[in-house]
Amino acid sequence: MAARRVLVVHGCNLNLLGEREPELYGRATLSEIDQQIESLASELGLEVRIVQSNHEGEIIEAIQDARQWADGIVINPAGFTTTSVGILDAIKATRLPAVEVHLSNVHAREEFRRQSIIAAATVGQVCGFGLNSYLLALRGLAAQLSARED
Ligand code: DQA
Repeated sequence: MAARRVLVVHGCNLNLLGEREPELYGRATLSEIDQQIESLASELGLEVRIVQSNHEGEIIEAIQDARQWADGIVINPAGFTTTSVGILDAIKATRLPAVEVHLSNVHAREEFRRQSIIAAATVGQVCGFGLNSYLLALRGLAAQLSARED
């Protein structure tokens, strides 16, 4: 069976991980997180393509492109979580299973961070586990993809 393929999206400001509010987001840099994602992906038999952008339109285009090649999406929409109908609609348009990720526990923070617009297009959300949120999301998505094959 061909490897299942997953688009991993990091939204705005996540390029600054490591130096950005480490008490909330941890000390790992984005490239360290990406290495862990890639290593788990190969363990799970997944192929990942990873995209980070500070531009909503670029994220929307990457998600639209995923229609052509991906089997699922893991996305940390970051600051776009509570604002982007465009990202919500792009995920819906792909009809792919998507998992929403946050490093921090957004439900234990300011009220405005709790209302995810994106959640309506996802199979689930993982938040609060630092970089492990991405790894748990990847495992959850892999299980969803396997279940769909049964
Ligand atoms: C975040 C949480 C968001 O509220 C925030 O805007 C981010 C990062 C997280 O990973 O915890 O940029 O998505």
